[in-house]
Amino acid sequence: MEIKDLIKLAIDAKKGAYVPYSGFHVGAALETIEGEIFTGCNIEIASYSPTICAERTAIFKGISEGHYGIRRIVIVGDEDYTYPCGVCRQVIREFGPNAQVIVAKDESDYRIYSLDDLLPHSFGPEALHKGDE
Ligand code: THU
Repeated sequence: MEIKDLIKLAIDAKKGAYVPYSGFHVGAALETIEGEIFTGCNIEIASYSPTICAERTAIFKGISEGHYGIRRIVIVGDEDYTYPCGVCRQVIREFGPNAQVIVAKDESDYRIYSLDDLLPHSFGPEALHKGDE
């Protein structure tokens, strides 16, 4: 899928944001390595810590349906570029170590990063599998 189309889906997904505490709406749309598309929004909880970001909603929807391997993920917030939080960067590291991470304002205004740009020298699954071979 074209980046512009993924951005449109993320903008649309943002409409589902449940944000009674921050009022900050975020939408995400990802494409898996195999081409499936998943979208998500942020969901806030009154006790705060169970709050989930848009990126993780989208990623976990995919994983729960058996679709691993993120090719690219788009994030759209309110107004300015919205960069993924540290927790989401680590989750993207798990399922898309080579993913493109795209922060967008709209279909014609976006920036593309690699996950490694955003989370260099990262910790990942391989560190726990040493000696398995
Ligand atoms: N948020 C996201 O959904 N994604 C991000 O990358 C940054 C933060 C959400 C979490 C919370 O609902 C609100 O933005 C304010 O932190």
